[in-house]
Amino acid sequence: MGLDPTVRRLFETARGHHRAGDLSRAEALYREVLAAQPDHADALHMLGLAALQAGRFPTARAHLASSIALAPRLAEAHNHLGLTLQALRQPDAAEAAFRQALALKRRFAPAWLNLGNLMALTSRPAEAAEAYRHALAVEPRNAAAHANFAKLLAASGKPADAEAHYRAALRSAPDAAIHTALAALLHRDGRPAEAVEHYRQASALAPRSATAAMNLAIGLRDAGRAREAAHAAATAHTLAPGDPAVRSLLADCLMVLEPTGDDTTLAAYLTRALAEGWARPQLLAPAALGLLRADPDPKGLFALEGVAEPDAALADWLRRDTALPGPLTMLLFVVLGAAVIADRATERFLSALRRSALRLCATGATVGTLGLGLLCGLADQAWLTEYAWAETDAEAAELAALEQRTAAARAGGGGPAPEWLAVLASYRGLGALPDAGALLDLSWPAALARCLTRQIAEPAQEAVLQAGLPRLTVIRDATSESVRAQYEANPYPRWTGSVLDLPSAGVHAVLRGALPGLVLDGDGPPAPEILVAGCGTGQHPIETARRFANSRVLAVDLSLASLGYAARKTREAGIATITYAQADIVELGALERRFDVIEAMGVLHHLEDPERGWRALSGLLRPGGFMKLGLYSAAARAPIARARAQIASGGYGRSPAEIRRFRRDMPALLDPEAVANLLASPDFYSISGCRDLLFHACEHPFTLPRIARALDALDLRFLGFELPAAVGPQGAARRDLAAWDAFERDHPDAFRAMYQFWVRAVGA
Ligand SMILES: C[S@@+](CC[C@H](N)C(=O)[O-])C[C@H]1O[C@@H](n2cnc3c(N)ncnc32)[C@H](O)[C@@H]1O
Repeated sequence: MGLDPTVRRLFETARGHHRAGDLSRAEALYREVLAAQPDHADALHMLGLAALQAGRFPTARAHLASSIALAPRLAEAHNHLGLTLQALRQPDAAEAAFRQALALKRRFAPAWLNLGNLMALTSRPAEAAEAYRHALAVEPRNAAAHANFAKLLAASGKPADAEAHYRAALRSAPDAAIHTALAALLHRDGRPAEAVEHYRQASALAPRSATAAMNLAIGLRDAGRAREAAHAAATAHTLAPGDPAVRSLLADCLMVLEPTGDDTTLAAYLTRALAEGWARPQLLAPAALGLLRADPDPKGLFALEGVAEPDAALADWLRRDTALPGPLTMLLFVVLGAAVIADRATERFLSALRRSALRLCATGATVGTLGLGLLCGLADQAWLTEYAWAETDAEAAELAALEQRTAAARAGGGGPAPEWLAVLASYRGLGALPDAGALLDLSWPAALARCLTRQIAEPAQEAVLQAGLPRLTVIRDATSESVRAQYEANPYPRWTGSVLDLPSAGVHAVLRGALPGLVLDGDGPPAPEILVAGCGTGQHPIETARRFANSRVLAVDLSLASLGYAARKTREAGIATITYAQADIVELGALERRFDVIEAMGVLHHLEDPERGWRALSGLLRPGGFMKLGLYSAAARAPIARARAQIASGGYGRSPAEIRRFRRDMPALLDPEAVANLLASPDFYSISGCRDLLFHACEHPFTLPRIARALDALDLRFLGFELPAAVGPQGAARRDLAAWDAFERDHPDAFRAMYQFWVRAVGA
């Protein structure tokens, strides 16, 4: 080794640059050293290390080998050669190099650590544990050794030991990744409150990390701290505004907010979530209503509820002319237009406002921009319910007068006042007005223009789209025909809002996410073909198309009206991967296409012979394909069945007028339990929902033994229910329908949202 002082100085300078992270200058100087002294083993070692750090592994290997040839007892060079060989995917050679380093220098913590990591990576946990113990014996405060040992222990089912080592690692060096790992361990261990503290510290150490903020939000949500969870998710959204997973999480957190009306930040996020379709608006609406009802502002709309002189109070509100509403008013307007408000008291309040608005309109009340926004919001909400609210005779008379005045104004060429149209729109769809299309050619304030689009332009677009839809099968079954007629008149579900990108994944990843614990290797089909049978109005197939990456979806339904609605919403969302067609499931067996995934949610129980339809669908499944079903549970539907029987004895028809009559009479007609049950169902609050819920043309609920028999007959294997992990039998019993049947006997309400489950062809 050279003693030349110039070479030594050069080498020291190179090391300085190396330590400072300037690899290229360091390498240049190491080369100068080697030019002066080709057998400089340290320079070769350092040049090898620099190449390893820069990811140039073959070069690193060559330099390190040369260095070792010159100085075979250089333990550090063997250690670095081990890392290089590991990066070159030569685990055996890497292990030999680490062991050689340790043979030369027994108390060499980095080599023990590297050996431990390699053993852990190559599934030799006992040797890994031994290596980590050696590393820690030499350096008891080595944070990486503690952390990696903890990871190994956690994976080996020793959470308590893992926790101790994570904590030791954190005592040595606070680190975001280690806090996160410890938090995840505590979270899995059912200790969300403790997990939160570590997620919080991870987030504080990595304040620019959206993932850290998301983890914190998930921990807080699971610890039942909804408001803080929503704020953490909002931070993640600020850091990664375009990330669909963050949006979805934020929407999930917003859904479970406790009502307080003073959090304008969350009100603003909820408004965006509703307006931009971050989640189903129906799921976000209760939180929005909670915030609005808790609004302490005496100028808020709900302050008008129950006032002594509602007309005068509303007249004040209507006069408001602010162009820029506050966050809670924005939320109010958006939620009124986005989702049916499923709350009887609010329905009463809104229909009372509608009555006052009609009276005020007749007296020529002044309506400012904000006032018109409210009238249009009421119209949107009433339209969404399909005018389910009760009307008095006095209202009917005042409405007729307003219709006449509107017709006269149009005939006179002056055009009706915007507020007249808004009030009319809150009682009847404007599409029914004579020559309604002509209204679209006039210029209107923005809120009313949106209302006209919704009530006149969009239904017209749907009619055009309907006419162009292919028909894949005949419809000759009598039940299919009456079910079709029902959904032609009342497409269901009625939904609004735009649809943003949701997180998407391959078939197996989606299944693993939906059914934790399900073991499926690989990704599944790279471009899955999917059938959505009974697709309704598009919400279901759009979500499916978004959920499965790179998929192509065929979506069929009996009802052209539903399909027209679906096709319009799909076009609006810019989705080109869904094809819609009219078809009867009963006849679909003749289809030649085959599918990797078939979904039929809320459909088969409406067939006269559900098992026949199920057989037709399972015949379209590719080998190894998956099927998702949603079937009514007889136990969960028992109160509805009782209500249906009471309704039948009351002689109610199925028309909208009859459904309105039933809704009015319902509290006196049904027993209190049935009343409470219906009021808790969002379906009760719209005509199509009520018809689907209580007045259906055909409904055959299932039991779990019946499902088990069908699976046997169809050679399908039960994979699991989409239910929260804590609900129902645990472990292997989660895939046992008999265990679930026993569970349902004790919890008859468990499948209130249907039996939603996945199956797969036997043999796959
Ligand atoms: C309750 S909706 C569910 C819609 C959708 N799956 C969802 O989850 O939003 C039931 C739908 O199934 C359709 N349907 C019922 N029987 C059918 C049949 N025999 N063939 C095709 N579609 C059918 C109805 O027309 C209706 O649109």
